[in-house]
Amino acid sequence: MKRLLLLAIIIMVAPTLTPATDLPVAPNGIGLFPDYRSWNVIAPSYRKDKNHIRVIFGNPAAIKAMKEKTRPFPDGAVLAKVAWDATGLSTFPVATIPDTFSQVEFMVKNAEKYKETGGWGFARFVGNELKPYGKDPGFVRECFGCHQPVKGNDFVFTSYAAVP
Ligand code: HEC
Repeated sequence: MKRLLLLAIIIMVAPTLTPATDLPVAPNGIGLFPDYRSWNVIAPSYRKDKNHIRVIFGNPAAIKAMKEKTRPFPDGAVLAKVAWDATGLSTFPVATIPDTFSQVEFMVKNAEKYKETGGWGFARFVGNELKPYGKDPGFVRECFGCHQPVKGNDFVFTSYAAVP
């Protein structure tokens, strides 16, 4: 009887324990973090040449490190940057707002696993179909290369947007 009850419980909770398999995965094995939209915001940003509005999010470990200015970031810290095409607000055109989703990128800290790229694993998912960016794991050279100017800040550009 006890065994039957246990079996019933396992059957009931199993679907919630099974990881979602339909999430996109980058060529270096980093999968999309589906819950990044519920992480805290570190800062917004705007890129003029691409006309992109961005929001940089951090998981709890990254937020803590941002607030306490911990460098290097601890293992487990994840930063996300989501970008949209910017457009004028139809009801108030001088206001610039996000329009079409462009891409979401991640930086995942694991000092040992990603030691070749400053302890950061990089991933990018493009467009509404969240297509993994890069032909092979070598795509990270492009990411890491452009993040070199902020080597002294553990390769991270963004800092916590100030509020009183
Ligand atoms: C041409 C330069 C350039 C390239 C290439 C680049 N980045 Fe960045 N990245 C930046 C800049 C500048 C920022 C600062 C915020 C912004 O762009 O709005 C940034 C910010 C980020 C952030 C937020 C944390 C931070 O450092 O501020 C993540 C996450 C990120 N990039 C991931 C990636 C990934 C993944 C790739 C490769 C697929 C990549 N980046 C390639 C320039 C670059």
